[in-house]
Amino acid sequence: MEYKTDIISKRRTFAIISHPDAGKTTLTEKLLLFGGAIQMAGAVKAKREQRAARSDWMKVEQERGISVASSVMTFDYKGCTFNLLDTPGHEDFSEDTYRVLTAVDSAVMVIDCAKGIEAQTLKLFEVCRLRDIPIITFVNKLDREGQDPFALLSEIEDKLALDTTPASWPIGMGNRFKGCYDILNDRLILLDKADKSHKTEPVAVADGINDKKLDDLLTTQEVSELRENVEMAKALCKPFDVNAYLEGSMTPVFFGSAINNFGVQELLDGLVKYAPSPRAQKAVERTVEPTEDKVTGFIFKIQANMDPKHRDRIAFMRICSGHFKNGMKLYHVRSEKQLLMHNPVLFLAQDRELAEEAWAGDIMGVPNHGNLRIGDTLTEGENFSFTGIPSFAPELLQKVRPVDPLKAKHLGNALMQIAEEGGASIFKPLIGNEWIVGVVGALQFQILADRIRTEYEVPVIFEPTSFMTARWLEGDANDIKNFVDKNRPNAAQDYDGNWVFLARNDWHLNKTAEDFPKIKFLKTKQN
Ligand code: G4P
Repeated sequence: MEYKTDIISKRRTFAIISHPDAGKTTLTEKLLLFGGAIQMAGAVKAKREQRAARSDWMKVEQERGISVASSVMTFDYKGCTFNLLDTPGHEDFSEDTYRVLTAVDSAVMVIDCAKGIEAQTLKLFEVCRLRDIPIITFVNKLDREGQDPFALLSEIEDKLALDTTPASWPIGMGNRFKGCYDILNDRLILLDKADKSHKTEPVAVADGINDKKLDDLLTTQEVSELRENVEMAKALCKPFDVNAYLEGSMTPVFFGSAINNFGVQELLDGLVKYAPSPRAQKAVERTVEPTEDKVTGFIFKIQANMDPKHRDRIAFMRICSGHFKNGMKLYHVRSEKQLLMHNPVLFLAQDRELAEEAWAGDIMGVPNHGNLRIGDTLTEGENFSFTGIPSFAPELLQKVRPVDPLKAKHLGNALMQIAEEGGASIFKPLIGNEWIVGVVGALQFQILADRIRTEYEVPVIFEPTSFMTARWLEGDANDIKNFVDKNRPNAAQDYDGNWVFLARNDWHLNKTAEDFPKIKFLKTKQN
């Protein structure tokens, strides 16, 4: 028991949230570097720029031909095992991103010091807040001119309604950036510009900000500015309170420069010391503690094979409790069937070999041939369903048809698979032959058209529809049948066969809801 608690308490499952270009990829790379998972910088970037590139730490991907390695990156640091989940980085927002955040226990928010809080950061932050996910902030690119640190702290407080507390304080900025004073541990850490590949080590452990040692290491101006700023920050900000952080009401803010490896180690130390280990997960019927003996988990993401010629998919399962061992059978609650977890991909081993076991907080990739869907719960026999993995009512709807009408069936298959991956909502209206596709961001139509053309060889045309929004119907089976009979032109089914109402406009939606008070019109479908 103690052994198990110890293992679980050393897991850190987290995601990085940021606006594109703030430095997420660079920071990821540096975290892997410090965790010993990659030997030299450059691997993540190479992957992004040239998708076919193979590097050492992507061995799993190489062996299986499936792009799983970049979805979960596992590394060890100071006795902790970190599972870093990639949040898909489309500029346009997608549901995938929300769902990845259902599988983490904490997040790191990366902010560009010149830009502050940007649109995407704000959206992602809101998802974290909904789930009370604790956040550590990393203000990046201090080697460039940016906003005043006080201005940045107050922007975070104002825009995110979150208490901030500096974990470190930068000494200068841009060309004058010299390093940071580590407020949480009273250490001075200086930037070594000459050496980009090595870890930063504190040059002095100080006995508080007024320690004379600092005067020897910094210029008079630097040291006086630093002291003034740290005093002021202490007066303006609340002191770091680990419970406030864990509740999601306070964020400690680290300053650094990912590209120069600066601040990365302090960030990791912060995660080791303060970030939560796997948390209890809510199911409809009860709350599941990570220390429970029996294995439980849920599917939060399904990803297609990188190779378009193969139709294999990987279902990503977050383990919520128990000790998973390779070759186990798990009970698939939705279908009420036992499923053999055949050849799961685990990301635990340092050398990227397939590992044989996994614990709460770990992510497992299960080869999927269509049985597993996003939101599914797996247990060792108990009948319950994890909550909180939402499908969102799409904000934009279009109809889609193949350029070649004979390819209608192919298109149908492609759409089903995309729906299964959670890439878009797909609705089949009761009347007519067209499919309606719903997305949360406009750019997704373009991305989908490209995917269907290249991966399924079906050129398609998206066109406007008279429907504006979709709502899942909930209610007594007879009431729903009655509703569908009376609203045939507006009734559709999602890929799971759930009934959906397609409304022409707000008025239409409200009026219909008034006319059918027994039916609930749901904006999100909770699995
Ligand atoms: P993203 O994943 O959040 O989109 O950001 P990414 O890491 O790709 O970084 C975006 C750009 O910012 C990259 O420059 C990267 O090198 C740069 N960058 C990241 N961290 C720092 C930092 O600490 N300081 C400075 N000055 N720049 C940083 P790029 O020009 O788009 O790419 P590259 O040609 O440099 O690779």
